[in-house]
Amino acid sequence: MEKCALVTGSSSGLGLEISKFLINSGYTVFGGSRSGTDLEHENFYDVELDLTSEDSVEEFFETVREFTSKLDLVVNNAGICEMAPLADTSLEQFELHLATNTVGPFLLFKNIEPFLIKNESHIISILSTAAKYGYPNVSAYNASKFGQLGFLESLKKEWKEHKIRFTNLFPGAIDTPLWDKMGTKFSRDKMLNASDFMSVFEFVVNAPSTIQFPELTFLHRDGFLE
Ligand SMILES: NC(=O)c1ccc[n+]([C@@H]2O[C@H](COP(=O)([O-])OP(=O)(O)OC[C@H]3O[C@@H](n4cnc5c(N)ncnc54)[C@H](OP(=O)(O)O)[C@@H]3O)[C@@H](O)[C@H]2O)c1
Repeated sequence: MEKCALVTGSSSGLGLEISKFLINSGYTVFGGSRSGTDLEHENFYDVELDLTSEDSVEEFFETVREFTSKLDLVVNNAGICEMAPLADTSLEQFELHLATNTVGPFLLFKNIEPFLIKNESHIISILSTAAKYGYPNVSAYNASKFGQLGFLESLKKEWKEHKIRFTNLFPGAIDTPLWDKMGTKFSRDKMLNASDFMSVFEFVVNAPSTIQFPELTFLHRDGFLE
């Protein structure tokens, strides 16, 4: 089998674009999401995955293991974001952000270690500027992304012996379906578009295997959304 990639959140937005790009680049792609996608290709496996469920994550990896024992590339991308002031944020919403964006990657990476290839595998995490900077009215999202970054920083050191690459991307706002549900005042003209994001992603994926990008922050020319 050619190079294998795993992409979480492959049903929409960045994950869908990433999956298409990787298939066109010759990868066999295992995409995970709850709703799946219409994308059809002989090198694309659309596998059900709910990152908030330990059973679902384990079943996802059982399926992947039927086809491959190695992953050259892991794209830790899936995530949710809802906007609300603290007073309107329910405990359920706060916990769902942590379950999806923080505990989800924990469950994902717990299952990934046997698939890693020494000196070879590349793990790319789509974090956000919200993993490093606070924004108003997204405390649940901010907390969950800060938490995910802390988890990854620890894992990077714990897995040093594997000599794999950890790249963390910190994009600003990108015009994807994520914003459709938020009903905010922000202008889409002040956001990156998916092809802007993909130009950075392609650069990172195609960089020589001696390079990793521990912290790559990129924004729209006009700066942070305000
Ligand atoms: N758009 C932005 O402005 C922006 C900026 C910086 C960083 N990011 C980050 O980029 C990543 C992708 O976002 P996007 O803009 O592409 O959003 P999107 O279009 O809403 O896509 C989110 C993806 O995550 C998946 N997902 C959500 N909950 C899941 C769960 N419990 N289990 C498995 N998959 C789940 C969704 O699939 P299902 O619903 O089918 O499960 C979907 O495929 C996120 O981590 C986001 O935080 C986005």
